[in-house]
Amino acid sequence: MSLRQIFVTTALPYANGNFHIGHIMEYIQADIWVRFQRMQGHAVNFVGADDTHGAPIMIAAEKAGVSPQHFVANIAAGRKQYLDGFHISFDNWHSTDAVENHELAKQIYKDLRDIPDAQGGSLIERKTIEQFFDPEKNMFLPDRFIKGECPKCHAKEQYGDNCEVCGAVYAPTDLINPFSALSGAKPELKTSEHFFFKLSDPRCVAFLQNWTQGLDEQGKPRLQPEVANKVKEWFSVRTNPDGTTSEGLGDWDISRDAPYFGIEIPDAPGKYFYVWLDAPVGYLASLKNLLDKRRAEDAKSPSYEAYMADPTLEQYHFIGKDIVTFHTLFWPAMLHFSGRKAPNNVFVHGFLTVNNGEKMSKSRGTGLDPLKFLGLGMNPEWLRYYLAAKLNGRNEDVDFNAEDFMVRVNSDLVGKFINIASRSAGFIAKRFDGKLGVVSADGNALLSQLREALAPIAQHFESRDFARAVRETMALADRVNEYVDANKPWELAKLAGQDARLHDVCSTCLEAFRLLSTMLKPILPVLAEQVEAFLKIPPLTFANAAQALPAGHVIGEYKHLMQRVDIKMLESLFEAPEPAVQKVSPGGEDIAPTISIDEFAKIDLRIAHILHCEAVEGSTKLLRLTLDVGEGVDAQGKPLTRNVFSGIASMYQPQDLVGKLTVLAANLAPRKMKFGISEGMVLAASHADEKTQPGIYILEPFPGAKPGMRIH
Ligand code: MSP
Ligand code: ZN
Repeated sequence: MSLRQIFVTTALPYANGNFHIGHIMEYIQADIWVRFQRMQGHAVNFVGADDTHGAPIMIAAEKAGVSPQHFVANIAAGRKQYLDGFHISFDNWHSTDAVENHELAKQIYKDLRDIPDAQGGSLIERKTIEQFFDPEKNMFLPDRFIKGECPKCHAKEQYGDNCEVCGAVYAPTDLINPFSALSGAKPELKTSEHFFFKLSDPRCVAFLQNWTQGLDEQGKPRLQPEVANKVKEWFSVRTNPDGTTSEGLGDWDISRDAPYFGIEIPDAPGKYFYVWLDAPVGYLASLKNLLDKRRAEDAKSPSYEAYMADPTLEQYHFIGKDIVTFHTLFWPAMLHFSGRKAPNNVFVHGFLTVNNGEKMSKSRGTGLDPLKFLGLGMNPEWLRYYLAAKLNGRNEDVDFNAEDFMVRVNSDLVGKFINIASRSAGFIAKRFDGKLGVVSADGNALLSQLREALAPIAQHFESRDFARAVRETMALADRVNEYVDANKPWELAKLAGQDARLHDVCSTCLEAFRLLSTMLKPILPVLAEQVEAFLKIPPLTFANAAQALPAGHVIGEYKHLMQRVDIKMLESLFEAPEPAVQKVSPGGEDIAPTISIDEFAKIDLRIAHILHCEAVEGSTKLLRLTLDVGEGVDAQGKPLTRNVFSGIASMYQPQDLVGKLTVLAANLAPRKMKFGISEGMVLAASHADEKTQPGIYILEPFPGAKPGMRIH
């Protein structure tokens, strides 16, 4: 087969947390397939990126007191240790907030908006919709930031889209006593113009019917059958936000209003692309970034445009089953109707669970911490092997079971496969100067079984049925071990006159080991390299594996290739972490972001003497204070004073305050209020939730403090 040009991605993880083991499974699956393709000599570009945009990340950054850019940069800095740690061979890792993505997303949008005009109207449409708006935060609220009472079972504090108690699905507007999860404010319904991608347009429906239900470029059904069936349902019915159903594909809301961390829509100030519009464009942005970097070093390397224009280029996305809609409807339609080629396929996997546990939460990811796995000195190839043995190319869930893991690694990988080398290599080194001998008829019969299995096993890798590739490889390892047990090299070694047979048997074993190593190489890349070094051979491929090592070939020194899993490691891996520190937000709000001493010094706090205090006519909240802060006297010898308003009328009678000392923020810019100018602010304590925990308390210094003293 001629050289294929293949572009492969995994889903882009949200940049709001570290990788969990579910992410790692996806990367391992894709990496095995990519390494297999590279072994076949094909040219693969394998890229990933962080998915950085959207309201949740914007809000998380705000909570952390940093800019969203800073927030996602921190997450990005943590990626490498996971990817290197599990031998994931991405060619590039990028970000959806990078300039390439801003440009590509805008270009694709413009093409979508403008190109189809000639063929019966643009696929981008503006519609005015009503949405909840937080009047305190001044922003439209995504469904998951609206809470309230479930309209069905009346459970309190339920999210805007569905009830976690009774499972009811509804629209945020159905909630009883809705409130903003951001500010606690009562949301208001407000209208706004949104941009929609018209998926319901007959042109889109026809294209997507064909793309999802039809044949691929090789004439085979494109999607996995279970995925195609699921997608088929969406063409006939869909579930609306309020739980009712409608006919056919619905239009897709692709815009969000400012403030939003995302990409501004061209010619629409204050409107941003919904994160899921620019996220898959990030696949192309990461690829472009990679190709641009290569081209900067080598002018002969193809440009992004030239690479994408190659009609034979194959494009594949590995994704989980929760994001199929985006990848089988929105993304192919975006590409096709913007005048680009739709992906060749999306490969959908199920969820990883741990020890029969529940599906890991997207954000928390429980059970098996990938970094802890590596930190305990556990071999990443154990996990690659174990997951490969379970991944069959369909979208079923996969369970990581600690006992099963130990059995498969120890009995199969080490016991059956590695042992073949460890039982034969020593004799070749000690007795035959490291030289391979002549293989006789029975050995050749065994080896030809292995050689014949290369092509079918390669086919299982191609179709992502790694489980079958592993199963068949291990069945062959069983044949080889039967041969070892029948010939007992350790006994041959003790018998006189059996040198030639010993040489023959051990050479057969090492040749078998070489073939088995080839079959496992996409899964165990580091081990395969060690085998290549030990056997002193060029990199193994399915093609060159068919050529046996000749008699007389000198091999290197055998060092033990792989340890067994120690049960203590597994115990530590799943040991509950130390009880967590129980953190709460003191006084109902988080401690503010750290400031420097210089920043603190900018605030001038002074002891103030309350000379006079009175109620403010027309206000139930305010008291007017006259304060002496030791600033001298006027021409008449009267102390220079400050006029300050303070919202403490609910707590104090004016006469209770006169004569007391308190604390004033003395260098605040004067503020013009309805009742006069306030020349500073009296400090007072209160809980963030004024409604349930009312009360505001002013400060009083210990005896000895004098008006005008600065507070440091
Ligand atoms: N940001 C989106 C994807 C945008 S793609 C243009 C997203 N991110 S995610 O971090 O939530 O998930 C990234 C990938 O990890 C998805 O393919 C998802 O299915 C996969 N997994 C998340 N949890 C998983 C498991 N427990 N098991 C296996 N894969 C899991 O979705
Ligand atoms: Zn409910």
